[in-house]
Amino acid sequence: MAQRDHFATRLGFVLAAAGSAVGLGNIWKFPFMTGQNGGGAFLVLYIVFVLTIGLSVMLAEFAIGRAGQRNPVGSFRALKGGAWPAAGGLGVIAGFVILSFYSVVGGWTLAYAIKSVTGALASNDPKVLGAAFGTFIADPLDVIGFHTAFMVLTLVIVAGGVRHGIERAARILMPILALLVIVLAVRAVTLDGAAKGIAFFLTPDFSKVTWNTVNAALGQAFFSLSLGMGTMITYASYLNRQVNLPKTAAQVTLLDTGFAVIAGLMILPAVFAFGFDPAAGPGLTFITLPAVFAQMPAGALFSFLFFTLLAIAALTSAVSIIEPVVSYLIDERKLSRRTATWGAGAVIWALGVPSALSLGPWKDITVGGKSILDAVDYLASNIMLPLGGILIALFVGWSVAARAVDEAQSGGNHPFALARAWIFICRFVAPVAVAWVMIQGL
Ligand code: PHE
Repeated sequence: MAQRDHFATRLGFVLAAAGSAVGLGNIWKFPFMTGQNGGGAFLVLYIVFVLTIGLSVMLAEFAIGRAGQRNPVGSFRALKGGAWPAAGGLGVIAGFVILSFYSVVGGWTLAYAIKSVTGALASNDPKVLGAAFGTFIADPLDVIGFHTAFMVLTLVIVAGGVRHGIERAARILMPILALLVIVLAVRAVTLDGAAKGIAFFLTPDFSKVTWNTVNAALGQAFFSLSLGMGTMITYASYLNRQVNLPKTAAQVTLLDTGFAVIAGLMILPAVFAFGFDPAAGPGLTFITLPAVFAQMPAGALFSFLFFTLLAIAALTSAVSIIEPVVSYLIDERKLSRRTATWGAGAVIWALGVPSALSLGPWKDITVGGKSILDAVDYLASNIMLPLGGILIALFVGWSVAARAVDEAQSGGNHPFALARAWIFICRFVAPVAVAWVMIQGL
């Protein structure tokens, strides 16, 4: 077997996995999904899915990856073979789909970092900020240009082996982002008129829950925790046997959920205080936050700092979305890292162009009533990732249960008291619940 790079420390792995999980999913997607899905009840469903299915699937991915020591396809093959490697293949395809639109939104954050200092966003008037976002999104050169810039940054990091550099940078920058999100949440909840937004977010109204809400919460749980496509399999394949997997899964999950909840408190109270529309969709964070910054001393500076850090958080996630693809192409197709990265990146970039245009020049094109960007996101988050999650759970629950439990306990180094409950969830709860929700959502 070829020598594999390994994380030097447990902290290094926790930070890489958390760097993958924390990203646009928390700060861009979670608030607007909560806004579109009626608030508090969505939050409750989301947390229930995260703590049951999400946590179990994350541990399953960790166990598969560390036992398999390969990319998702290779890890399934190393542990069992048969038709199972196809489950890893589904994940590799999902990587293409997800990064295509993820990079578009990553480009928005870069653009907004720049706009923060040009004064283009200095207003708290919903109309002005809505129009600023609308104008930006309607300019094909702008959106495709920033999509390209974000993609190139991602590929340079993945191809050039500066990964360790960015992981080290993220170790310093992510706590700063966390701090900033907390400061902004404090500012948002103390705005005049914030109470309505806080109540919207924290008071569940289950009478408004439909299967769409449930389906959306499930998809968000998978997307935000980076589950169902082999990212966590790939990261865990760079891991040695000393690390306590259940503990790490719990920490990453808590960190990710904490980020999302605080992001919700940062956006939704402000949405109500300034009279924005909570159901505005993908633009919500980008039209709401500038209004908060406009209410703060040195707002332009905060704004620049925030969008820059968000872009970096998005980059550490983007790297983790393409890594399963690249490691597959290297291990299984014998490409060099450079060729694999730039080749896959070019395809993903092209796939992203329709999403980039879909809120502006192509906004009249809809797929099932959704913009192209929303439709691609839906395909990935609500179909591909849950399907991948079902397969991962079934694999661990039925096919390699004994081996997986041994792996989760690090061969006896770290006894895991909940092993039986975990296998039970992988066998029955996760596959049945996810399949049920998916079928109802169709
Ligand atoms: N979890 C990341 C985020 O919230 C996105 C992601 C999805 C990363 C799937 C890897 C795999 O931004």
